[in-house]
Amino acid sequence: MESIDWRNLSFGYVRTDYNVRCYHKNGHWGELEITSSEYIPLHMAATGLHYGQEAFEGLKAFRGKDNRVRVFRWADNARRMHDTALGIKMAAVPAELFKKAVFTVIRLNEKFVPPYGTGASMYIRPLLIGSGAEVGVKPASEYLFVVFVTPVGPYFKEGFKPVDILVCREFDRAAPLGTGCYKVGGNYAASLTSLEIAHKKGFSTTLYLDPKEKKYIDEAGPANFFGIKKNTYITPSSRSILPSITNMCLQQLSRDLGLQVECRPVPYDEISTFEEVGACGTAAVITPIRNILDPDTKTTYEFCLDGKPGPVSTKLYQRLISIQNGDEPDTHGWIEFPEQNNN
Ligand SMILES: Cc1ncc(COP(=O)(O)O)c(C=O)c1O
Repeated sequence: MESIDWRNLSFGYVRTDYNVRCYHKNGHWGELEITSSEYIPLHMAATGLHYGQEAFEGLKAFRGKDNRVRVFRWADNARRMHDTALGIKMAAVPAELFKKAVFTVIRLNEKFVPPYGTGASMYIRPLLIGSGAEVGVKPASEYLFVVFVTPVGPYFKEGFKPVDILVCREFDRAAPLGTGCYKVGGNYAASLTSLEIAHKKGFSTTLYLDPKEKKYIDEAGPANFFGIKKNTYITPSSRSILPSITNMCLQQLSRDLGLQVECRPVPYDEISTFEEVGACGTAAVITPIRNILDPDTKTTYEFCLDGKPGPVSTKLYQRLISIQNGDEPDTHGWIEFPEQNNN
């Protein structure tokens, strides 16, 4: 599209032509509807508004040098949204409906998939809300599934450049046995105050610790955390973090590169032993971390001493974006082409 400055897109909302919707009523999903309206009609007593029965996802589509549009790992997002739905007692979206909605909305808005080589991509946002009216605390009897798309640039304005992050002990984004492992809006609402504090102090995001003991690393704002040392990719396993699909990719790509992979509780005290650290996610891709400031002990852990991302993070980043853009073979079956799926 001529009016969009693809190279300078931020991670924000840009209107596209269409979105798709589907209603779950009387125990089953209806037909997929296509609309140009950016608004959804919602009952004022909808459980999504009062009791947080709301789930969402985030995935991306990329345009290759061959001009073909590639959707990245949609089935994993479908699975995670399914788990989230069950976790907060919502009607789950079947994988086939998820796929149909995602592929349809991409095809309808194909001109908004940014050109190859701009660094931008199409962000796909599936949203599931309890739309049925209730006043007591209980699951809704009706649900609305919406998928919209928007072209985006990098989540952290720095792109693939090292950022500084702030350790957060005053706030948790989720409770120890709460909803941290689900993609529900409440976790993000809970993170807003701490994110604002970090931003005001000049940090890109917060580093959350485990909410029970504050002894282990949880995640980095809206992204998972990883550290590299001794040829090993190390990432926290925790009940209160979102299972990141990008992190799953990086674990696989690390193995491909001959690294060991450890997914385990990562003690906070281990930070100083890492050679490289980073944040990863669909939006963040890999964001290398330069400084981690602990405001309570007034310690700064420094990485990227030459100002550049570390060698392993760089290799992983390049591999991942090359596969997403179709520059390297997709040996793990992560890519699908909406044009070939007229479901
Ligand atoms: C809290 C949180 N952690 C991690 C991630 C990264 O997950 P993914 O790689 O699936 O995008 C996200 C983004 O979805 C997130 O919101």
